[in-house]
Amino acid sequence: MDITNEESVRLGVQRHFPKAIINCAAYTNVEKAEDEPEIAMFQNATALRALSTICKEHNIVLIHFSTDYVFNGLKKTPYTESDYCNPLSKYGESKREGEIILDLEKAPHYTLRVSWLYSTFGNNFYKTILRRAKEMGYLRVVDDQIASPTYASHLASDVLRLLEIVLIEKKSIPYGIYHYEQTGEASWFDFASAILEYSGINIPIDPVTTEAFPMKAARPTYSKMSGHLFFNTTQIKQRSWQEGLQACIAHGQQ
Ligand SMILES: NC(=O)c1ccc[n+]([C@@H]2O[C@H](COP(=O)([O-])OP(=O)(O)OC[C@H]3O[C@@H](n4cnc5c(N)ncnc54)[C@H](OP(=O)(O)O)[C@@H]3O)[C@@H](O)[C@H]2O)c1
Repeated sequence: MDITNEESVRLGVQRHFPKAIINCAAYTNVEKAEDEPEIAMFQNATALRALSTICKEHNIVLIHFSTDYVFNGLKKTPYTESDYCNPLSKYGESKREGEIILDLEKAPHYTLRVSWLYSTFGNNFYKTILRRAKEMGYLRVVDDQIASPTYASHLASDVLRLLEIVLIEKKSIPYGIYHYEQTGEASWFDFASAILEYSGINIPIDPVTTEAFPMKAARPTYSKMSGHLFFNTTQIKQRSWQEGLQACIAHGQQ
């Protein structure tokens, strides 16, 4: 379904009668959003109004994803759901606006804020590191941005578990925003070093500061999120980011 087209969403709902919608669609190009903020805002926020209305009308549970980029990164300890949001980028602003719309519309939603998603599919940091290691034989990676890498497959299975708890076991889990994290924290340099080590690739890798790779969109320096609320509410136990990476590499080698 095109989430920016209400008719398309209505048709999809009429055809499939879903009990839940997992909305993975978004405007995700953080750099490009600086040049076309209106498009980012439309896809990441405005479009959610119609989606919320339809979910409310049909009593559909909406799973939505937001980001650690809603924070400015000045904190020194993991961000909680009640921490103040102050995004540094247009992408972050549009995702924050989307969260606000889902809350205001009182959609039956679970918005999971996630960080640094990767897997063996699509384009992501994990795949870029493996490709560049092969092409260049050495790497320079930013070591002054810290968060928690998240293996998309673990996120996917935990989302299914959440839906099982809510829709099949009929347990009451309050709607709203939750931080979904894999435990532990890492810089991009730590993450890249672990990708090389666990993959058995032995090439030089140097830490550099954010200034070494100038970007249009500012990123938070520290955006580790605390997953305590999600765990305490759902009892879904988070795995560490290192376990996530090992599982991803094992999947890639199959
Ligand atoms: N990747 C991360 O590190 C990260 C971190 C925090 C939060 N998130 C959030 O997690 C979610 C998934 O991110 P991702 O990295 O998987 O993004 P992604 O790889 O860019 O995938 C987004 C998907 O949305 C589709 N899409 C775009 N506009 C659409 C529309 N109007 N209707 C239907 N589909 C549309 C895109 O299709 P096309 O390819 O055809 O355009 C693409 O398949 C997003 O909400 C994102 O903000 C991601």
